Amino acid sequence: MKILITGAGGMLGRALGDTLSAEHDVTAVTRGDLDVTDLGRTLAALGRAKPQVVIHAGGWADVDGCERDPDRAWRVNALGSRNVAVACQEAGAACCYISTDYVFDGEKRDPYTEFDAPNPISCYGASKLAGERYVQTLTPRHWIVRSSWLFGPGGKNFVKTLLTKARAGQELRVVDDQVGSPTYTSDLARAISRLIGGPHYGIWHLTNNGACSWHRFAAAILDAAGPKGTRLEPIGSKDLQRPAPRPRNSVLRNYCWTLEGWPPLRPWGDALREYLAHPELSA
Ligand SMILES: NC(=O)c1ccc[n+]([C@@H]2O[C@H](COP(=O)([O-])OP(=O)(O)OC[C@H]3O[C@@H](n4cnc5c(N)ncnc54)[C@H](OP(=O)(O)O)[C@@H]3O)[C@@H](O)[C@H]2O)c1
Repeated sequence: MKILITGAGGMLGRALGDTLSAEHDVTAVTRGDLDVTDLGRTLAALGRAKPQVVIHAGGWADVDGCERDPDRAWRVNALGSRNVAVACQEAGAACCYISTDYVFDGEKRDPYTEFDAPNPISCYGASKLAGERYVQTLTPRHWIVRSSWLFGPGGKNFVKTLLTKARAGQELRVVDDQVGSPTYTSDLARAISRLIGGPHYGIWHLTNNGACSWHRFAAAILDAAGPKGTRLEPIGSKDLQRPAPRPRNSVLRNYCWTLEGWPPLRPWGDALREYLAHPELSA
């Protein structure tokens, strides 16, 4: 199958390129190759490549950055996704759009299913949801994949940042009142590979199995790979004063995946152990 990946220089984009190129004819385009905010170039790029499937992994994933610069957030995450959706439709390609747990407000007690109503509380979440809506209305053949708390090689992520700080001897304060599902980019890429193999279109929640707070995630990272004796203090979200609010609960139940009878992704702790052995994290 001919697959084009946007944002291929990003953390998830790289994992998608590595995973999918084993079985498919993959065109991996970075922002330098294709800035999706340019409709003309996006139409031309997809017209040239003639993919059967486009995985739109390009986006502005800086949650606080989006809050500070909403124009850029709407331009990239909303209008950029519209451009990709229009170009998919013109090129006859199905569209797989990568979205986020932050489309939810976090007030639900239980994990969110694909059938729960989104209600974003940040500009990032709202702009990603607008991207979902463009994809839904402009391309009938689409998969919207919501994932959360990504970690993996080749990008900025919580695991890497935490270990860098711990190894520099910094004292660590991490929030314990936000709960989610850490997800390994290569596990997500494999799940997406399965998903796009058939016409199971619609919204999908795809995360590693299990949930934890950021504080518990940090404790697991330090237990396995941190310097002995690193101090880790639990704090509340209100102590951090970040520009963008985060949902308290952003656990995504992989409900449609389960309803299809497909085996769950492995527990996040197992995936974390694999990532911790990656050379980019060696001390
Ligand atoms: N990180 C998470 O925890 C998380 C959770 C749920 C969903 N997601 C979603 O997953 C996707 C990938 O995220 P990631 O964590 O891999 O982030 P990332 O490493 O920042 O990758 C995003 C990529 O998109 C590119 N990009 C930015 N603006 C673009 C534009 N106008 N046109 C084309 N490409 C553009 C970036 O290029 P530059 O680096 O050159 O700007 C970057 O390579 C995003 O859509 C994000 O919203 C992420």
